[in-house]
Amino acid sequence: MVLGASSGTGAAVGRALALSPGLHVYGAHRGNHPQGAAALVDEVRGAGRRCHLDVADAAPAEQADMLCAALREREGPGAVRFFVHSIANASVSRLAIEREVHPKQVHKTFDSMAHSFVWWTQALLRHELLAPGARLLALSNPMVGQVLRGTAVIAASKAALHVYVRHLAAELGPLGYRVNTLTFGAVMTNALRTTIGSDDAPRFQRAVSRAVPARRLATVEEVGRVVSFLASDAADFFNGADIDFTGGETSALLDRIVFPEDS
Ligand SMILES: NC(=O)c1ccc[n+]([C@@H]2O[C@H](COP(=O)([O-])OP(=O)(O)OC[C@H]3O[C@@H](n4cnc5c(N)ncnc54)[C@H](OP(=O)(O)O)[C@@H]3O)[C@@H](O)[C@H]2O)c1
Repeated sequence: MVLGASSGTGAAVGRALALSPGLHVYGAHRGNHPQGAAALVDEVRGAGRRCHLDVADAAPAEQADMLCAALREREGPGAVRFFVHSIANASVSRLAIEREVHPKQVHKTFDSMAHSFVWWTQALLRHELLAPGARLLALSNPMVGQVLRGTAVIAASKAALHVYVRHLAAELGPLGYRVNTLTFGAVMTNALRTTIGSDDAPRFQRAVSRAVPARRLATVEEVGRVVSFLASDAADFFNGADIDFTGGETSALLDRIVFPEDS
């Protein structure tokens, strides 16, 4: 089950999971990227797996419940082995200067990017959709521990997501489930272009590439492959983990400031 399956990371993750470990893909998106959704359906079916994507706002608790009820009706109990929360629906704004952030923007961002992870976990359990050993994965970024202007509300919602994951991992671990966060740096997607502005994308890409010790951005395909690994038997003991897939970005900030000539 992939929320946000029609574009960017979610679409790449759906493709990757259909290939390895070879899962059927269910998903949800709001219909803004119909070509991306159609391409995913084609590719998953081409890999010999079933694919069903619902068009719906997946953020509200009631919607999570309705979509899970429909999935249970269609596929029966225990249908979900892996759940990936890949919704991006954030507001970019500074907090208190220029155009100050509005409470509605904060609520929307937290509802989509953080709280809905809890609503979906509740609904998957309520409808007995989790297969034995099922895994739930949240996606985060290094902004949580850094300051990049305009991204305070995104970072705050991701910080909440990390806390939810740690608590859910403790609550669900004894039931045999696993809950983790995968943190990765910038990958070029619609959400990132919206966050930084399309015109600034090339400049942003160059600057971030210099800042990452690996000297480049990751691709959504690479993120998809690491999610395939997290769905494999070898990854069974990750629980409550924050898995860093940033090419070293998270820890390199001070080095970049002190030795800018090397960047
Ligand atoms: N891009 C990065 O650099 C980066 C880095 C680290 C982590 N991440 C995380 O990765 C996740 C995916 O981001 P992305 O960059 O791949 O975004 P993206 O390419 O813009 O894709 C977002 C997906 O979510 C869907 N969506 C958004 N709001 C939704 C809602 N309320 N209900 C249902 N579907 C919804 C979108 O489709 P519709 O618009 O049709 O709904 C789309 O399928 C996010 O959690 C993001 O924070 C991204």
